[in-house]
Amino acid sequence: MEVDCSNFFQQLPIPDKFNEKNDKICAFVNQHKEAGSKVVLITSGGTTVPLESRTVRYIDNFSQGTRGSASAENFLHHGYAVIFLYRNRSLEPFSRHFSRLNLLDILELADDSSATQPIIVRREYEGKMKTMLLKYKKVMKSGRLLSIDFTTLNEYLHLLRASVLSLRQIRQSAMVYLAAAVSDFYIPKDQMPEHKIQSADGPLHFSLQLVPKLLGPLVMEWAPDAYVISFKLETDKNLLIRKAQEALKKYRHQLVIANVLETRKQTVVIVTNENNKTISLTNEQLLDGVEIEEHIVPELLVRHQQMMAEKCNETNF
Ligand code: PMT
Repeated sequence: MEVDCSNFFQQLPIPDKFNEKNDKICAFVNQHKEAGSKVVLITSGGTTVPLESRTVRYIDNFSQGTRGSASAENFLHHGYAVIFLYRNRSLEPFSRHFSRLNLLDILELADDSSATQPIIVRREYEGKMKTMLLKYKKVMKSGRLLSIDFTTLNEYLHLLRASVLSLRQIRQSAMVYLAAAVSDFYIPKDQMPEHKIQSADGPLHFSLQLVPKLLGPLVMEWAPDAYVISFKLETDKNLLIRKAQEALKKYRHQLVIANVLETRKQTVVIVTNENNKTISLTNEQLLDGVEIEEHIVPELLVRHQQMMAEKCNETNF
């Protein structure tokens, strides 16, 4: 069942700090338009769906933001400017390499408390820390990374639309890479209790409404010249390719990256109207720390470049 998107945004409250974030996005796109850079919008992490207006409880999902943050590093490596629209507290480019560690375990107090450097990085982390710090500082100095956070589905939807509308002006130099795991269900504001739901009232029954698929307006209206990549996640691998092909046919974007929940770090299938291409890592590569995004992103760059060249030829005729 499909839900109409046209009136949907009108009943979605404008989130806190929306204008501030939107201004940053517009300034970032303008800056890179002038520089003639390619800009990719990467969405990353899961969305929450609140059950109460003054939220105590919410529905969430599994996504950690590995795909989005690892892809961001690879796009930056290949010269793209990146708008990283990510779930607050999910993984972020560069810092993600230390996410499993307690910061206080990485640092050490110098033996001599009056030393010029009273806090030092423990020797075993020095190499990796230096590599990531250098990359991060270089990227930040170049002004090619803008990170914008969201938590709720509502925030995500508003910020997604604002980002894509802003990218519209750079036409085919824009890429949209929808790696976030977005809820398909929500509770409309007028059906949500204001206060904490009371357990004394007995078992909880509530009904979730469908969120319209935003891929439709995104491709047809918001940024019709952009190179748009959606993801298809399934737990049943027998459904995966068919569903990805159906999405392509329905939304008429360029490409779907299909993945199965349990194997998403080892195998994906790039599905286009022309063919399907499987990208897989061997067990050895996985153990060596190779990440599948290192292989996914270069594939996309070639295809984006091809589309840009084709559009350029079309305008010359
Ligand atoms: O973050 P990780 O832990 O690394 O995991 C990565 C990932 C599995 C989350 C990622 O690889 C992935 O598959 N992301 C998309 C998950 C998803 O939402 O799949 P879907 O089949 O439910 O949605 C398909 C597409 O529709 C998505 O690109 C989504 O952006 C889009 N969508 C979803 C909801 C909505 N209302 N409108 C949309 O347009």
